[in-house]
Amino acid sequence: MSTIQSAYNSWANQYDTNQNKTRDLEGEALRTILSTIDFKRVLEIGCGTGKNTVWLADKADHITAVDFSEEMLAKAKEKVASDKVNFVQADITKDWTFLEGKYDLVTFSLVLEHIKRLNHIFKQAANALVTGGYVYIGELHPFKQYTGSKARFDTEEGRQVLECYTHNISDFTQAAKQHGFRVANINEFFDNNDRTQIPRILTILLQKV
Ligand SMILES: C[S@@+](CC[C@H](N)C(=O)[O-])C[C@H]1O[C@@H](n2cnc3c(N)ncnc32)[C@H](O)[C@@H]1O
Repeated sequence: MSTIQSAYNSWANQYDTNQNKTRDLEGEALRTILSTIDFKRVLEIGCGTGKNTVWLADKADHITAVDFSEEMLAKAKEKVASDKVNFVQADITKDWTFLEGKYDLVTFSLVLEHIKRLNHIFKQAANALVTGGYVYIGELHPFKQYTGSKARFDTEEGRQVLECYTHNISDFTQAAKQHGFRVANINEFFDNNDRTQIPRILTILLQKV
């Protein structure tokens, strides 16, 4: 088991209840960005405890929700009682054998910071989508990462800091271009909507052309 997977298994019990501005602001960002587009079949990558699955399931007909942490998935299953959602345990750095047909939306919320090789992910996402389908990315803003901010939580044994990779904005847009996406929208979300501070969340909406 990777260190990231076992860290999320340990974090699962407190993930929803810890104070976590990044988790909360990304939830707002996803709802803001995706309320403007139509989608029916969603592939939610790194669904975690289902923070966004509930909202996506309200709008969609079917969701495949994927995560490699069985403990995070167990929390999501408690939260999401919908037969529209199929939860799958899988590691997204491997081949995506969990696809259930094609999708019109693939979402990544706070997951790509744990993935070293973006190219593999974009290739698999492009293959999962219909032409015209969207990719939503909501990540801790790289500007925050430059200041040393990382996913972390406290345990009785002390603070656990997760293994993270910094992806610059151009790393996302270049990988997107290489795999047949156009950039539809880039947005930044700030604590208390204060645009004089470092943005906390970066969102990128891509469309498969
Ligand atoms: C910070 S949590 C975000 C969860 C949820 N999307 C949210 O916004 O609250 C990151 C999630 O990505 C999952 N994850 C990280 N690396 C993964 C991988 N290689 N394969 C599958 N899931 C992964 C973790 O298990 C964790 O549940």
